[in-house]
Amino acid sequence: MVPTITWRDNYVVMIDQRKLPFKENYVVCKTPAQVAKAIRKMVIRGAPAIGVAAAMGLALGANRIKSINRLTFERHFLRICEQMAKARPTASNLFWAVQTMQEVLKKHPTASVRELKDLLRTKADELLAADQAINRAIGLNGQTVVPDEATVLTHCNAGALATAGYGTALGVVRAAWEAGKNIQVLADETRPFLQGSRLTAWELQQDNIPVTLITDSMAGYLMSKGRVQLIVVGADRVAANGDVANKIGTYSLAVLAKENKVPFYVAAPLSTIDLSVPTGDEIPIEERDPREVTHSLGQAIAPAGTTAWNPAFDVTPNRFIEGIITEKGIARKPYRKTLKAMKSQSA
Ligand code: MRU
Repeated sequence: MVPTITWRDNYVVMIDQRKLPFKENYVVCKTPAQVAKAIRKMVIRGAPAIGVAAAMGLALGANRIKSINRLTFERHFLRICEQMAKARPTASNLFWAVQTMQEVLKKHPTASVRELKDLLRTKADELLAADQAINRAIGLNGQTVVPDEATVLTHCNAGALATAGYGTALGVVRAAWEAGKNIQVLADETRPFLQGSRLTAWELQQDNIPVTLITDSMAGYLMSKGRVQLIVVGADRVAANGDVANKIGTYSLAVLAKENKVPFYVAAPLSTIDLSVPTGDEIPIEERDPREVTHSLGQAIAPAGTTAWNPAFDVTPNRFIEGIITEKGIARKPYRKTLKAMKSQSA
């Protein structure tokens, strides 16, 4: 499997997810501003991958600061952190990663600038490695809810490409597959950015996991015909009450799942759970360029001048969610209590 993000010669290298599956291009980021731009432009996307990229970008940025005066270094570093945090608004992993990197400075009040640079690089490496381990744990916890024979529907791409490796929702699929379960995946194409058709179909094919592509609007019909046994999606931010912001279209899927009695699960690391946000209403929802809706793969698909809307995420109310699968286990209702308890295990 191609790594989503890695170091090369002290630069941050990412596979360009805008080009997949047609081209395997790599983007080399030599400055933190280039990493922030790569996040904004969706070279790298998916909440955990965005978090890891931000941490690596900050380590890169710290290393480029010339001053050996600690106060000056801190001032520069905080400015880079502020810029990085503006890259995208919804995925909490971005803010979590920026905060985690800032804590390195607080935890080492007497460290020299040289030591801080090393400590920040070590922390970014830790986050990169930890994300893969976390996804394996999510997979193991989540595969327990996958029937021995099942068609599992997923939305967007919550796979290896959306993380440092293995995936969250697709981590559950991979773990069930590795456990010998007879499963196949239905991948929603995920308009408008097509993460499902371009990325999920591609990465499952690489692993020889059977995958069938559907357009987003086909999901309800297939559920009503008993063709879906389980839905697992990722998350960009989980509020304290268990409301989940995820790729636009997730909410419709969850409502249809309830109507058709299909269990609907969310798979996400604890870094995606934001207890500072009481409910989904307070989660900022990114609005992207309407051109992503009026055009597809560079081709206009609407009359010139058509007005379009492009909210990139929606919020699924907690009542539609059967469980939230994390690296510490599966949280169930009442989420306010169970999520708080799980988060405290990670502190
Ligand atoms: O706009 P994207 O592609 O960054 O949105 C990604 C999603 O919505 C994913 O489902 C979510 O980040 C979880 S990825 C493990």
